[in-house]
Amino acid sequence: MALLPIIVAPDPRLKTKAKRVEHVDDETRQLMDDMLSTMYAAPGIGLAAPQVGIAKRILVVDCAKDGEPPNPLRIVNPEILGSSDEVVIYNEGCLSLPEHYADVERPAKIKLRYLDHQNEIRVLEAEGLLSTCIQHEMDHLDGTLFVDHITALKRNIILRKLAKAKRAKVTA
Ligand code: NI
Repeated sequence: MALLPIIVAPDPRLKTKAKRVEHVDDETRQLMDDMLSTMYAAPGIGLAAPQVGIAKRILVVDCAKDGEPPNPLRIVNPEILGSSDEVVIYNEGCLSLPEHYADVERPAKIKLRYLDHQNEIRVLEAEGLLSTCIQHEMDHLDGTLFVDHITALKRNIILRKLAKAKRAKVTA
């Protein structure tokens, strides 16, 4: 188990399209375990491989509520098979945009196909927070951040603040 450094925006590594995984092997399994440890430690409810500098179509989520047992999902090469016309708005945050939040509208329900940690094809129907979380993490695989769903004005305010915080860190 290892904790991986999480990349904070703005960073070109968060804007690239991640590559499909040919086969889920021990290396991929280790990466997903490390991503889960990193996500729980942050703490967060989702993490995509590009956020730790790995340009592969891999993500982990755990949307169990407080008091519920952990429910980690290891998701490789996810594809949306269908989504509802009904939408929901969540106030989203992101481990790569620390301390910033914005309302984002997404389909309320999705049907998803992916490879699990044993390279088996799985189909999952998700709604509520899990649906939103998976869609948010899938965006990362295509270089999209939640701020790309809001107005340019709001996005630029957040990105400028993050860039400024980064400069302050470097000079501190
Ligand atoms: Ni995120």
